[in-house]
Amino acid sequence: MLVIVENDYDIMCQVAAKMIVDRLRKKPNLVLGLATGSTPLGLYKELIRYHREEGLDFSKVTTFNLDEYIGLPPTHNQSYAYFMQDHLFRHINISPEKIHIPQGMFGNISITAFETDPVVTDFCRWYEQEIATAGGIDIQILGIGGNGHIAFNEPGSSLGSRTRVKTLTKKTRIDNARFFSSMEEVPKYAITMGIGTIMEAREIILLANGPGKSWAVKTSIEGPVTAMCPASMLQMHRKSNVILDQAAASELSAEFIAYG
Ligand code: F6R
Repeated sequence: MLVIVENDYDIMCQVAAKMIVDRLRKKPNLVLGLATGSTPLGLYKELIRYHREEGLDFSKVTTFNLDEYIGLPPTHNQSYAYFMQDHLFRHINISPEKIHIPQGMFGNISITAFETDPVVTDFCRWYEQEIATAGGIDIQILGIGGNGHIAFNEPGSSLGSRTRVKTLTKKTRIDNARFFSSMEEVPKYAITMGIGTIMEAREIILLANGPGKSWAVKTSIEGPVTAMCPASMLQMHRKSNVILDQAAASELSAEFIAYG
């Protein structure tokens, strides 16, 4: 695990963008795993800047997003499909057919049947198959939840899990309520790549900023590998990079830190 601590969020995002740009210049048909949420916003801005100012070409890139809320159509302004269009895809020259985001709408399936309904389980299997057909993910971008989740793999998720439906914890729903007008509107379920799916990416870049992430960062990097802190599984990955700002790194023991 390479832990890089930068002075602030902007530099963190520039460093992450540079890593992706270097990989993309070497491999124009890069397969990129993408995250949503507040954390990667600066990184996406930087990638857009590279595209506009330096002509960085995304036309051969394939993307797979980590997760999507269940029950929100792609036109809903809090769906992750909408987020990705708004913050990245419509600003770069990516081919729409190379974009993959888990489906969030499954018709009239009852909430209690989500985990077992064949329409949903077939979709999850298809998503995994699409990743395999694309040759696997070259670089996966991750944020981290204040509770140590990666994608929507909440504490207690199997470390070998694959794409499936997960119930969001109360903490995650409270954390994400800032994007909705009321707590009732925050979805209770999401479809998410599993920890096993994420671990198969050839390289991982996890970004975390702000004091709300310091506990999760410390527990993931210095704690034992445990399903109770899903991001701790990254300790087992052969090529994981963790890029932090000072606040997110504030609980780490100094000897673990390589200053960027
Ligand atoms: C989003 C995702 C989540 C977020 C995490 C942090 O696709 O997979 O795991 O990365 O909840 O969210 P922010 O960045 O909003 O703090």
